[in-house]
Amino acid sequence: MTELTVNGKSRKVTADTDTPLLWVLREDLGLPGTKFGCGVGLCGACTVHIDGEAVRSCQVPLSDVGARKVTTIEDLGVGGLNRVQVAWIAEQVPQCGYCQSGMVMAVTALLKNNPKPSVTEIRAAITNICRCGTYPRIVAAIAKAAG
Ligand code: FES
Repeated sequence: MTELTVNGKSRKVTADTDTPLLWVLREDLGLPGTKFGCGVGLCGACTVHIDGEAVRSCQVPLSDVGARKVTTIEDLGVGGLNRVQVAWIAEQVPQCGYCQSGMVMAVTALLKNNPKPSVTEIRAAITNICRCGTYPRIVAAIAKAAG
């Protein structure tokens, strides 16, 4: 049994401790907003926050989480959309939408650390892959969220 804190709640899971956090979230905790894309840390579809930092949950074994706080897309904007979500809607960013929860998690963490990123900094920080190619709208939405 492993105890972890997800979206502000203490949760107990029986998954093997080497199970990637991605699968613990999806399969054990019923939080399907975090997506599986590549499984090898390249696409960013599985991005969540651990203690407020963006991480690719397919690369984090359950045993590495410990007492740190995990936040998923399901908890973002509870009680009101955050500025990234508002900008995403305003710019109509998603096409198929599959990668977007990971994108929003990555961008929210970026703007927490760097509230006014340049386009160069955005391109360096957001390496998530969007197969629909919505990158121009993503950059526009980040600029809008950054104000
Ligand atoms: Fe984790 Fe692609 S599924 S980076």
